[in-house]
Amino acid sequence: MQQIQATLDFLNSKTNFFTPEVAIVLGSGLGSFCDNLEGISVKYNEIPHFGSLNVDGHKGELLFCEIFNKKCVIMQGRFHFYEGNSLQVATYPIKVFKKMGVKTLILTNAAGATRNDFNVGDIMLINDHINFMGDNPLIGKNDSSLGERFPDMSEVYDEFLRDIAKNSAKELDIDLKEGVYLAVSGPSYETKAEVKMYHMLGADVVGMSTVPEAIVANYLKMNVLAFSMVTNLATGVGEAKLSHQEVLDCGKFAGGKLSSLLMKILERI
Ligand code: HPA
Repeated sequence: MQQIQATLDFLNSKTNFFTPEVAIVLGSGLGSFCDNLEGISVKYNEIPHFGSLNVDGHKGELLFCEIFNKKCVIMQGRFHFYEGNSLQVATYPIKVFKKMGVKTLILTNAAGATRNDFNVGDIMLINDHINFMGDNPLIGKNDSSLGERFPDMSEVYDEFLRDIAKNSAKELDIDLKEGVYLAVSGPSYETKAEVKMYHMLGADVVGMSTVPEAIVANYLKMNVLAFSMVTNLATGVGEAKLSHQEVLDCGKFAGGKLSSLLMKILERI
C-alpha cells in the first residue's frame, strides 16, 4: 500500500491529479492506437515501483488523455512474466489504476490461434480464460482492503461490455470472433503437441499475458474487457515457423482494426 501511494504521488505530480475512469493496456504491435492522441506521457522507468521493459515493440510509457470526454490512461507495453517479472510486478499497474479511480480495464494482446478457422489479423473478444502460467498474481498475504482471499472467477470478462463490443464491431463491419484465451509463461512458443492439447482443453488462442492482469482486476472488482489480435496460427495449426517479427508486423497491419473498434467502444461506454 505504501508503494502504491508513492507511485500515485509521483503520477499525481506529473499529471496534476488526473483521475482516469478507463485504463487500456496495449499489447505487442498495438502502439499505433496512440498515434493521434494527445496527453501527458510518463515513461515507466521514471515511475517509482514500476517494473522494467525489454521486449521490442513496446514503448514503455503511460499516456494520460481524454477520448470522447472520457479520461483514460493507456499503457503502451506491459510487464511480462517471461522477462523475469513476478506476477505481482506484472500486475502492479492495475492496482495503481484502481487507486486512481479506474472502473473499466481494457486489455489487448497478440496471440496465436489454436484453431484453423481463425485467420491472421482476426480480432477475438475474450469471454473466458485458462491460466496455464503455473503461477497466480494473488499468491501471498492477502490485503483484505483490496479484495477477497478467494475471489469468484465466474464472470471475469464483463457481459455488458462484451455486448457493447459486439455491437460496435457490427457497426464497423468487423468480423469479431469470440472465445477462450489460454495464457502460458513463454518465452518459447508452443510445440505442436502443446497447441493440440490446449485446443482440446478449450482454448481458442494462446498467448503470454493478459490473464494475470484480468485476475487482479477481477479481484479489485473492476469491469474487464479484453481482446486478442490473432497475429499467427499457433504451432502446427499453420505451416509457418513462428517469429516475434511476424507478431509485430501483424500488429502494424491489423492493429488499425482493433484501434477503430476500441474507439467505437470508448464512444459508447
Ligand atoms: N503463442 C504464444 N504467444 C503468442 C503467440 C503464440 O503463437 N503469438 C503471439 N503471442
